[in-house]
Amino acid sequence: MAHSLLILPGDGIGPEIMAEVRKVVGWFDRNGIAFEIEEGLCGGCAYDAHGVPITDETMAKAQAADAVLLGAVGGPQYDTIDFALRPERALLRLRKEMDLYANLRPAKCFDALADFSSLKREVVSGLDILIVRELTSGVYFGEPRGVSVEGGERVGINTHRYTESEIARVARSAFELARRRQNRVCSMEKSNVMEAGGLWRDVVQEVHDAEYPDVELSHMLADAGAMQIVRWPKQFDVIVTDNLFGDILSDAAAMLTGSLGMLPSASLGAPQANGRPKALYEPVHGSAPDIAGQGKANPIACILSFAMALRYSFDAGEAADRLEGAVEQVLADGLRTADLLGQSGGRAASTSEVGDAIVAALDRAG
Ligand code: IPM
Ligand code: MG
Repeated sequence: MAHSLLILPGDGIGPEIMAEVRKVVGWFDRNGIAFEIEEGLCGGCAYDAHGVPITDETMAKAQAADAVLLGAVGGPQYDTIDFALRPERALLRLRKEMDLYANLRPAKCFDALADFSSLKREVVSGLDILIVRELTSGVYFGEPRGVSVEGGERVGINTHRYTESEIARVARSAFELARRRQNRVCSMEKSNVMEAGGLWRDVVQEVHDAEYPDVELSHMLADAGAMQIVRWPKQFDVIVTDNLFGDILSDAAAMLTGSLGMLPSASLGAPQANGRPKALYEPVHGSAPDIAGQGKANPIACILSFAMALRYSFDAGEAADRLEGAVEQVLADGLRTADLLGQSGGRAASTSEVGDAIVAALDRAG
């Protein structure tokens, strides 16, 4: 039976990079993994067409799909519209209503790119860490929220709130993933100033002691964690943290790898009756409106997000390895978009040249 994929290219460079992902999906479709693809609008393009960043109909398709692939959303023309209608709200609605609580953000440094990081080669070469960010709670969704007027002045309010079951389930995700890696988890919070941070720490420890005593667990304050991520990132294997700290720490980790254009992500829910989680895959980078439509965007983060779909939604670990290997090969051959040229210069490849080269490398790998 074919796997159903809902593709939401979104805004800015989203459609260009997704066109390259479709070439890769097509390759696997011709080589033994059948896909059934639907496409939908999400973000600013949905607002332009329907007045909302995502329609109920598209939400229903996302809920029903085996996996959702998303490009990127947003653009400067939407910065002034009502907060509740902004392109980003589509992302938050997908995450919340699909209950995608575990956001996996690997930061892996490809050897061919170790010199592109702003950090020294020895700090980043061989780096392979995984940030597991809680994605459906915390300050992103807590109530009360808003801006009101108190005593004649405006007050902005957001609420950081976590239940113990929300903490426990994402901690389990992190421990499970660690068991398939180096078996180490570092949990980050601010238990020195936040009661909710203290609860986070306690619950992660309790889940560990009761269910995952074989995994090595450490705790770090999130500010110290940020410092350690840029000082000596290879000390980490899996980092588990809340929604807001995860947002920030994952951008810092992204830069270790040389380019934001390289980083994929997976957002997973609890296993369903068929044993598979609801899932959404997207690059960590944004819609890059400054280079949209010019064929300059790096499609690799989006293509590697599809590799994560192969791994986590379709039980096709070998296919995922093969795709990651093809990406590595293309980088090693020196074919790169402008973001990966750095000081040394050279010719910048176009978005579609990179996609074509990855498909050709998939062919050769057979
Ligand atoms: C991310 C992004 C989003 C977030 C924005 C676009 C809402 O920064 O996925 O990291 O803050 O979660
Ligand atoms: Mg972010």
